[in-house]
Amino acid sequence: MSTPTKEYLDTLTRYYEEEVEGEAYFYAIAERLSDPEERRKMEMVAEVETYAAAAVEPLLQKYDLAPASREALAASGRKMAADSPGDFLHFLRKWQVEFPGYIDEFEALEAMAPAEDVPVLKILTDHEHAAIAFIEAELKGEANSTAPMQHYLETGTA
Ligand SMILES: [Fe+2]
Repeated sequence: MSTPTKEYLDTLTRYYEEEVEGEAYFYAIAERLSDPEERRKMEMVAEVETYAAAAVEPLLQKYDLAPASREALAASGRKMAADSPGDFLHFLRKWQVEFPGYIDEFEALEAMAPAEDVPVLKILTDHEHAAIAFIEAELKGEANSTAPMQHYLETGTA
């Protein structure tokens, strides 16, 4: 096993924490959407976050890393949602701009990782590809816009 750098371990921990926060954030936004279809789609984004966090968890155990508690992260995610007003379309447009930057960050994490961790980290990177594919399809009005997220939840790949 190649030796992981502190930067890698710190970044891995932070990104894991952000996924757990994200899960609570997306569920909190879903809760306030009155349209059942929009709510279902937002819940699916949350499920994609859950999947990504669970995929990475074994790496945290492997390196004995101690992320913040799920409760603290969930509270933080809910607060982020509470501080972010806006409807479904507002969030799609906002994330259409923001999410591609996360791909760069996840790829940078892969690049600093020991080779044996890369397959797991690709599951993390792919969750962002799946979310972006959903957003692009949804903004184009495609009927099966959630297909990329469904595929991800079934395979762990984008
Ligand atoms: Fe995420």
